[in-house]
Amino acid sequence: MSDKERATTNEQAHRVREMFATIASRYDLLNHLLSGNIDKRWRRLVAKTIFATLSNSEARILDVACGTGDLSLTLFESGQARIVGVDFCRPMLVIAASKASRSDAIIPFVEGDALELPFGDCSFEAATIAFGLRNLTSVETGFKELLRVLKPGGKVAVLEFSRPTTPILRSLFRIYFTKLLPLFGGWISGSKSAYEYLPDSVQRFPDQETLAAMMKTAGFAKVSYQNLTAGIAALHVGTRPG
Ligand SMILES: C[S@@+](CC[C@H](N)C(=O)[O-])C[C@H]1O[C@@H](n2cnc3c(N)ncnc32)[C@H](O)[C@@H]1O
Repeated sequence: MSDKERATTNEQAHRVREMFATIASRYDLLNHLLSGNIDKRWRRLVAKTIFATLSNSEARILDVACGTGDLSLTLFESGQARIVGVDFCRPMLVIAASKASRSDAIIPFVEGDALELPFGDCSFEAATIAFGLRNLTSVETGFKELLRVLKPGGKVAVLEFSRPTTPILRSLFRIYFTKLLPLFGGWISGSKSAYEYLPDSVQRFPDQETLAAMMKTAGFAKVSYQNLTAGIAALHVGTRPG
């Protein structure tokens, strides 16, 4: 990567971090409100997907781009495994830690970059990333890091917005995402730009099949996905071979 490309990438990452810092205090409220609470069901499905690992009290599971910790907490409450959350936005992590302490959950929330995870190779039995991949400046590097920190045989679960499966739903989704969401999101969070960024980032993000192909290219085996709520979101899984 040239110096100029690196500077642009750093600038993009800085903007994403600042954006989440600005909306951190309203993030949970808006998430649940704007999704009609479906996001909670989607996160529970992630837990179900890695249930075997969650049931193992010796296992460690990394929740990457954990934000305010909703998925980390769902994972903690769904099994006995040890959960670690990592995110590069401190205000999001402060909220995550405060929620964990209120619910007596023991989850270390670590400040760190998903593109340079502060963990050794082969450290985790499973890893998750929910609505985080889309925000990374490089999806490929994100996958490379997830693969590196997983133990051989370890499973990754990726929850992300995706392509609705029917044209009519795609149109409705586009209207909701590009017109209503920036309006309500901007009004409640005080940051219209954050909720304009959301539909942009979703539209730029690869569809289900393309993302599955990218996971395979990154080195994951047994890649599969399921559409959630008619493809509004998708849950991809893969395994580190070996
Ligand atoms: C939409 S939030 C998702 C939070 C949480 N996983 C959830 O399900 O609600 C995206 C998160 O990704 C984090 N993020 C974006 N780029 C990152 C990076 N390079 N390293 C670590 N975290 C990152 C942001 O700080 C933000 O907290």
